[in-house]
Amino acid sequence: MSNQNLKSATKFVHAGANPDPSTGAIMTPIFQTSTYVQEAPGVNKGFEYARSQNPTRKALEEALAIIENGKFGLAFSSGVAATDAVIKLLSPGDEVIVTNDMYGGTYRLFSKVFEKFGIKFIYVDTTEIENIRNAVTANTKLIWIETPTNPLMNITDIAAVADISKQAGALLCVDNTFASPYLQNPLDLGADIVMHSSTKYLGGHSDVIQGALIMNDVALREQLYFIQKSCGAVPGPMDCFLVLRGIKTLHLRMKQHCENGEKIAYWLRDNNNVAKVYWPGFKENKNYEIVTKQMKGFGGMISFELKDSSIEAANKVLCATKLFSLAESLGGVESLINHPASMTHASIPREERIKNGLQDGLIRLSVGIEDADDLIEDLKKAIGPLSAEK
Ligand SMILES: Cc1ncc(COP(=O)(O)O)c(C=O)c1O
Repeated sequence: MSNQNLKSATKFVHAGANPDPSTGAIMTPIFQTSTYVQEAPGVNKGFEYARSQNPTRKALEEALAIIENGKFGLAFSSGVAATDAVIKLLSPGDEVIVTNDMYGGTYRLFSKVFEKFGIKFIYVDTTEIENIRNAVTANTKLIWIETPTNPLMNITDIAAVADISKQAGALLCVDNTFASPYLQNPLDLGADIVMHSSTKYLGGHSDVIQGALIMNDVALREQLYFIQKSCGAVPGPMDCFLVLRGIKTLHLRMKQHCENGEKIAYWLRDNNNVAKVYWPGFKENKNYEIVTKQMKGFGGMISFELKDSSIEAANKVLCATKLFSLAESLGGVESLINHPASMTHASIPREERIKNGLQDGLIRLSVGIEDADDLIEDLKKAIGPLSAEK
């Protein structure tokens, strides 16, 4: 299926799915093979060696392109492997402007792996477009933004950044993991590359680690494909099958994540024991108009700080919930609770974290698709009821 004019629900169900020509199987088979028999040297069916090509991965890569309104998709063995491939487009001396609040593993990859190869990363608050404009130099080759950010839900205007990147002759890559392709399509707004941790909403069932890149430009696709096959961070066929299956219900899951997220965000905001709630849907948020312009909903990710800002108070809540499981990751059907400072963002030095607004006591929720009343009941036992209920 390649018709990009179909409505999103139809795209999610049918993207990449073509009946298997040898059997008619409606679901893409898991081609568990490392190599392919050739008729003669160089005479083959388009598949030579499974690091370079695999039919299950091909079906997934087609699906990724369709659901992000792009021309090409590439699947990687993890989200960070996809990020790694993008940075390998660069050379020593090149500069990257980066959102200062972002997933800790991305920061770790940039600062601990790539800086020593001479690539410079300039971290700015990208919610203010001027900060990006001021950071551009003749060496800027890439702008890397996450929106909404992990974990503070900061919003950056993708279309405005795309204007700057084009003027600067730099690429714009958007980590679209938190929004998912159901809520936001950065290529439509002028981005050059969309990156996903497919581990999250695309897979949707906490059973796979995988990453994705989607782009429109054929030359860029060729460069990234070259890196994919040369560096070898490819996902196995079983994992590709799982993400393909996850994509079929993305729209339904995202609707429920959004609905539950909204109820929980307002409940947290009304709770006297909670000092601050981070959720993209509050009208008084900075850049709220941009959220409504570039996203179709607010998602299921919420962070909050308790009035008692001590780590002990946060720990008590983190250990008290039963339906919200204490775990890293996000985007699965089941709800998770996380402590960014000691878990997902532990690789960011404390000083840097605090400077960017990520407090020691911050708690992050990945709101699942269970019944919202049960989830609120679970949080009520851990945080305390609303004062009117006391
Ligand atoms: C926003 C974001 N980007 C990238 C990643 C990295 O993805 P993976 O864990 O699949 O390597 C994560 C993982 O938590 C993430 O939350």
